[in-house]
Amino acid sequence: MHAPEPKPHAARPHTPAQEADVDRSDLAYRRWLSEAVGKVQADANRSADTHLLSVPLPADWGIDLYLKDESTHPTGSLKHRLARSLFLYALCNGWIRPGRPVIEASSGSTAVSEAYFARLIGVPFVAVMARGTVRAKVDLIEFHGGRCHLVDGPGEVYEAATRLAAKTGGHYMDQFTYAERATDWRGNNNIAESIFRQLAAERHPVPTWIVATAGTGGTSATLARYVRYAQATTGICVADPENSAFFPGWRDGDPAAVTYTGSRIEGIGRQRVEPSFVPGAIDRMMRVPDAASIAGIRVLERLLGRRAGASTGTGLWAAFRIIAEMRARGEHGSVVGLLCDPGERYLEKYYADTWLSTQGIDITPYVERIERFLVTGSLETVNPPGGG
Ligand SMILES: Cc1ncc(COP(=O)(O)O)c(C=O)c1O
Repeated sequence: MHAPEPKPHAARPHTPAQEADVDRSDLAYRRWLSEAVGKVQADANRSADTHLLSVPLPADWGIDLYLKDESTHPTGSLKHRLARSLFLYALCNGWIRPGRPVIEASSGSTAVSEAYFARLIGVPFVAVMARGTVRAKVDLIEFHGGRCHLVDGPGEVYEAATRLAAKTGGHYMDQFTYAERATDWRGNNNIAESIFRQLAAERHPVPTWIVATAGTGGTSATLARYVRYAQATTGICVADPENSAFFPGWRDGDPAAVTYTGSRIEGIGRQRVEPSFVPGAIDRMMRVPDAASIAGIRVLERLLGRRAGASTGTGLWAAFRIIAEMRARGEHGSVVGLLCDPGERYLEKYYADTWLSTQGIDITPYVERIERFLVTGSLETVNPPGGG
C-alpha cells in the first residue's frame, strides 16, 4: 500500500492561537476629543444659515435666479462648511491629536476656515499654499492663528503638505481627497438641503439647475448626491475656468487629465482631476473664459451692491447661459448659483484694472454681453468674429 501523496496546499495542523489583547484606550485623549467635538458642534449651533439672495431679472421671463451667499459664514466662504466637516471627520477618525499640528494644502479659502477651527480646538495649524495666493488670505490665516508655508506653484502643495506632516508628526487634512466623504450629503443642513428649504415658498421651488464650481469637487458632489437622493429633477452643472483639468477630464472620461498652467480664478480650477470630484453625479460642465468670470462679478456688483470673488463669476456666467437657453425655449423655472466668497479679498486682482492688463484680460466684451442679456435674455455676441 502506498501512503497517500501530500496535497500541494494541505492545511497546516491547527495550533491554537495564544490569547491576545492590545488596549490602546486613553481616557485623557477621549476627554480631549469629546471636548474638541463639542466645541465644533457648539460653534455650528451658534451660527445662522446663509441667505439665498434673489438676483433681479425681468419678471415676465418667468425665470428666477438665486445666489446662495456663502460669504456670510464666520470665515467668509463656502469653505467654512467644508472645514467644519473635515475637522469632525478627522477628529472622529482619531487623526487629530492634542498638541499636534493640522496641515493643509489649499488655495487659501479652506485654510482660512481651518485656521479658525484649529484655534477653536486648540491645535496648531499650517497652510501650504502657492506663493501667488492673494495677501488678504495670508493675513486672514495669520489672524486666525495659523502659519503659512508658501511653495512656488499650486502643483507643489500636496507633496509639501505630506512632507511637513511627516516631519512634524501632524495630520495632513487633505481636502482634495476627503472633501466629498466628510460632508453629510443626505442632509444635516448641508448646502443643498438649505437651498431646497429656502426655495420652498418661491414660485419655482425645485430649481431646474444648480450651478457650482469645483476646487476639491466637494460642493458639487454634495449638491449632486443630495438632489438625486431627494429624487428631484434638478440638473447639476459645474462651471470650470481656463487651465483646469476638471472639464477635459469629465468630457473625455479621463481621470488622469492634467494641465500645465495653474488657474487664475482663485479657489477653483485644478491642474489635475482631484479625487474628491465625483464625475458620475454631474449632469453638465461648461468651460468659462476668465474674462467672463471677472465680467460676471463686475456686473454683479451693480446688481446687488456686493463684491464677490471670481469663482462666483464663473458660476454666474454659466447660470446666465442656462437662463438664456431656457428663455430661447420659452421655459420657466429657477436657477441657483453660489456666492462663494467676498470680493474684498481680491481688490488687488479681479477689481484692479492694472492686474487685468498685466494678465492680458479684456472683460469689456463680456460685460457688454451680460448687460445686453439682462435686458434681452440673449447672451449671444452681436457681431461674432468671422460672422460678417
Ligand atoms: C472661492 C472658492 N469658490 C469655490 C470653491 C469650490 O469648492 P469645492 O472645493 O467644494 O469644489 C472653492 C474651493 O476652494 C473656493 O475657494
